Amino acid sequence: MQQDYERYEVEDFEVWQLLFIRQVQQLQKSASVTYLEGLKTIDFRADKIPRFKKVNEKLQALTQWELVVVPGLIPDRTFFELLSNQKFPATTWLRKKSSLDYLEEPDMFHDVFAHVPLLTDVFFVKFLLGLGQLGLTYFNNAAAVELLTRIYWFTVEFGLIREQRQLKIYGAGILSSLGETAHCLSEEATRFEFDLERIMHLDFRKDVFQECLLYHFIL
Ligand SMILES: [Fe+2]
Repeated sequence: MQQDYERYEVEDFEVWQLLFIRQVQQLQKSASVTYLEGLKTIDFRADKIPRFKKVNEKLQALTQWELVVVPGLIPDRTFFELLSNQKFPATTWLRKKSSLDYLEEPDMFHDVFAHVPLLTDVFFVKFLLGLGQLGLTYFNNAAAVELLTRIYWFTVEFGLIREQRQLKIYGAGILSSLGETAHCLSEEATRFEFDLERIMHLDFRKDVFQECLLYHFIL
């Protein structure tokens, strides 16, 4: 599959711009420095939906990773296979203006705006690669896949990190959501120090809005 850039409509550009401006502004104080630096390096702009081809040229030069277009959620095995080949799955569609804040499945704003900046970081991609390799090794073992999925969920999607004594966001599920960004650092959120054992024993639900229900682990 390829990104069909000609198919983007005016509303798609408006949605990208609205979300981009809103989140960049909100994340200046709350996102991890590594994410913010990655965002600068990858050079996303409010007025342009990123072209995967250009994003991949940059990623290739920096970490040898690349985006691969997928239609939506993909099977675990395919996901782990992609990661272990230094490929990150991403959708190309954008949410509608009428549902800026709730999505049943990740769209391109989540997959690209929130995930790609960290794909410029050598340490982060090493971690992703490791998860992918483990997943591929144990894909026949449902219990192992479940544990790996939980690790992915509480780090790559909803992780927090302590940077110079301040809590910062690096999880893409938070970075792409206005509500999660505000909530995860607030007094209402439940946070724990990073604890692999605890993460692996903690269930999560993807089918409900995460806000107020999610635990955050601090690296
Ligand atoms: Fe994601």
